[in-house]
This record gives sequence, C-alpha cells and structure tokens, in this order.
Amino acid sequence: MTDKGLAHGLTNYGDRDFSLYLRRSFAKSMGYSEAMLARPIVGVVNTASGFNNCHRGVPELLEAVKRGVLAAGGLPIDFPTISLGEVFLNPTSLMFRNLMSMDTEEMIRAQPMDAVVLIGGCDKTVPAQLMGAASADLPAIQLLVGPMMTGRYRGERLGACTDCRRFWAEYRGGRLEKGEIGEVEGNLATTMGTCAVMGTASTMACIAETLGLTLPGTAAIPAVHADRLRAAEATGRQALETARLGLTPSKLISERSVENALRVLLALGGSTNGILHLTAIAGRRGIRVSLQRLNELSDTTPVLVNLKPTGDNYMEDFHAAGAMGALLRELAPLLHLDCPTVTGETLGQRLAGDATYVDREIIRPFDEPFEAMGGLVALYGNLAPDGAILKRSAADPALFEVEGRAVVFQSLEDLAARIDDEDLDVTAKDILVLQNAGPRSPAAMPEAGYLPIPRKLARAGVKDMVRISDCRMSGTAFGTIILHVAPEAAVGGAIGLVRDGDRIRLSVRERRLELMVADDELARRRAATPPRPATPDRGYARLYAEHVLQADRGADFDFLTRGN
Ligand code: FES
Repeated sequence: MTDKGLAHGLTNYGDRDFSLYLRRSFAKSMGYSEAMLARPIVGVVNTASGFNNCHRGVPELLEAVKRGVLAAGGLPIDFPTISLGEVFLNPTSLMFRNLMSMDTEEMIRAQPMDAVVLIGGCDKTVPAQLMGAASADLPAIQLLVGPMMTGRYRGERLGACTDCRRFWAEYRGGRLEKGEIGEVEGNLATTMGTCAVMGTASTMACIAETLGLTLPGTAAIPAVHADRLRAAEATGRQALETARLGLTPSKLISERSVENALRVLLALGGSTNGILHLTAIAGRRGIRVSLQRLNELSDTTPVLVNLKPTGDNYMEDFHAAGAMGALLRELAPLLHLDCPTVTGETLGQRLAGDATYVDREIIRPFDEPFEAMGGLVALYGNLAPDGAILKRSAADPALFEVEGRAVVFQSLEDLAARIDDEDLDVTAKDILVLQNAGPRSPAAMPEAGYLPIPRKLARAGVKDMVRISDCRMSGTAFGTIILHVAPEAAVGGAIGLVRDGDRIRLSVRERRLELMVADDELARRRAATPPRPATPDRGYARLYAEHVLQADRGADFDFLTRGN
C-alpha cells in the first residue's frame, strides 16, 4: 500500500509532484511525523452531532478506533459527514438518507485513504453509510454505536421506542394522566445509543453484521458496555487487514449475502424499514431485491427472536442471550455460508467456532420457533401493483382475512385535522387509508403509517385496525399496518384513487390487497386526479423530487443505483 496512503488521489494542480509536496507540507502543519505520514491511512467517519442523541458516544468510539489503527501500523484520520438524528429532522430523516450516502461516498472517494471505518447507528445512518461505501467501493468496515439500555417507570422496564407508542396510545385513550406521560417521557431514552428494541436501527445493525460488513458479534453490544469500546479498537485494527485483503464492499455485498440478510430480517421479526434500506444498499451493487422472493423466503424462515415490538425483550437481552452469533447458527441451514466477511473468513468459518451460551427465552432453536414463518410479507393487487409490505409478526391475525369500508385521509394534514373528530364516520371494522405520504410526496415518506386509532374508538378499547398507506412505519411500532404501497398516490398510484366508502379486501394468506372498484370507475377517477405535486424550484429538495425512486426500489435516487 506504499504507493497509496497520502499519495492517493492527489489534488489536481497539473503537477503531480507539486501536489504531493503541497499535501505533505500541509499535513505536516498538523504535527504528523514523517514516519506517521508514511503509514497507510484509515479514514474514520465521524458522525457525532449535537442533533443526534444516539451518536453521543461517537467521540469515545473514535478514540478507540484510532487506537486500534495506530496499534496495527496505520494512520487514522477522522473526517465528518452529515449525521442524521431520527427525531430532529424535517420533514423526515429518510429524505436525507440519500444525501448522507452521497456525502459518505464522495468523501471516501475524494480524500486519501486506504480503508474507511464507518461509525454509524441511528436509523438512516447505517444504510446511508453502507450505500455510500458500496458505491465508493474502498475497503470499508462499519462500527455501530450500539443500542441504548432500558429505563424504568414505576417498576416497569422502558425502551425507546415501542414503549413510547404504547404509553402514548394509553394517554390518547385517556388511561394515563398528563403527569404520568411526562414521567414516561423522562424515562424512555436514558442512555446514549440507538433505540433499545428491534427497531430500524437494531435491524440494520444486524443486517450490516450479516452482510459481513462489521466485526462478528458486534451488532448488539450495548452502547455503554466496555465491549463496545473494545469492538471499536478491534475494528480499527481490522480496517488495515481488510484493506490488505482487498475486501471491498463489492466483494461482500452479493445476491447471496443479501439473501442471507433477508433471512435474518425475517427471523428477527425486524423492521419494515429494513427491506427498504436493504433494497437501496443492494441496488448500489446492481442487485435487485424482489418482493416475490421476500415472500418465498418469508414462508420458509421462522421467527426465532423474542424482542419488542413483536415480542417482550430488548436489545440488551439479545446481546446477553448470544446475539447474532447464536441467531446465525440457528439459521445456518438456510444461509449461504460461503459469503466472505470483512475479516477474510467466510460466514461458515465464522460460525464454525465455539458456540457460546444461548438464552432460549430470547433466541429459540430453529425447530422451536416463536413463529413458523417470517415476520414480513409483501402484498400485491390492484391497490399495490408494485407491492406493499405488512409486518405480520407485529399484526393481529384476526385482521388478516378481511373486507372493509375505506375511510380515507388525503394527506397528513387531513389526518391530523380529522382523525379525532367525534363526528368522523368510522367503526372498528373499517380500513383507514392515508394518501399522499409516499417518497415523492411533499411529506417524503414519513413514519406515519402507524395511523392513530380514532380517539373515540381508542376510548372504546379498540387496539388495532387495518391501516394502509404509501408511507413507512417506525420499526418500533406494531399493528395491522400495510405500508410502502407502490406506486404511491403522488405518482398516480391506485392508492390515490380510493374514496370514502370503497370496499377493500385484504388476504394475507393469498398475499392480496384489492380495491373492489371497477376498472372503468378507477380510470374515470384517474383522469380527474390532479397531476403530481410541484417540483421544488431549487436545492436538495428539487434533486430529491426529480430523482427519488419508489419504495420497491428502496427510495434511492435513480442516478445512484446500478444497472436495475
Ligand atoms: Fe436513533 Fe431510534 S432515534 S435509533
């Protein structure tokens, strides 16, 4: 690697030697010795931000990564990129995932480094970094910030954010006082790290480990655990070895490793966002994730993990129970074990090592699953010609085979204005439909698919209803909620043609979602539907509106995906 290091990718002044001389001179201004500047360089992406509570531990992780790089004979140089703190971004963090991926890709490519360590964790940061690294295709290894520990409320364990929603539903239903919800608010997120349940961040951490892009056994280590710092140091050491082996993301992200990741997503009962992000990551390497294939895998992949929101436990329990090593061993008969990982070992070689203790309350044996079939299914029909997603493991099976009357909300604003109206014509057997909240809508595909139960029904004890939208749902939410309907209303999808009182038929068994309205009537409505929303006139919002793809393509930009 001696011809790389600081000499990699010189600034263009028309004189190569001058460029190197100038770069070395300016690097020396930072106090580096000749010996240090002669070392291979490991770039370390610093995503600390005052607007990202989940990444509060990044400075300490950064120091540990640097320690590992130095100990292995490299020079660590950190650099900032955009950081996306889930709850601090408007209109949605998803809108900026692609921007962060571009920042990550271009800064990896533009700056002199032989390998890169990606420190990420909060929901969109992990896919953004993997998308960017997959496109830059320099040897890369991801270090997760790790999940939060749980808090306590009156003797009960609390973890963001499944419990956030549960208690909020209680408050909306009038079963919790204002003071009590305030007390819950103060105890939901009490440490640094990512949400404490199997939400999107944890799902993506497990997917990153399955793809072979993190050190084995590191996805679930709590953010505050000393092992997290040891993992950071080891990641720094490994970065140089990964570079020496030439293990770029294109060698790790393959159809086979993506299929392994889908299996894990299903066995975890993982977040619906996981399918969106994995589709986008795979798309950067020209791999198309088929929702039909998702259904095939779902039918043959058992749910083995008992974590909220589908189960009862938290990420700290998953870590103590054996974590990804234990889960992957159970799934091994279904996995492609020849897939390489950042260490140079194959997945099969990794799993051939000694098995550790496994808590079977948290991670079940393959033949004693919590559910015989996977957590996610794709639905098709005239309401979702390009597919929709249902997290059946978080849904009520009593609502899987139903026909109901549509109660339609035309936008998020309309939803907010009318959902709690005492005069709203709605019953528990109706199907709530939210339009114009997909990737191309002004709302930019928010996590609003968890439509609240109308207050008057919530008060009457209704806990779940079928809800359909073209937006997303937090990985920490639960309910019979159909998401990611494609194509979306804003580009003329049939979901935009639903009217109050229409009949909708859902059959999870048949994987069908049908709007029971005649084709000629739908054609008439389509002709009368206003054109797609106006394109913003400048800036990133314009780039986003002009290039974002639909949910079945991962909501990536058309010019960033490869060959599909
Ligand atoms: Fe960062 Fe949930 S808010 S992972």
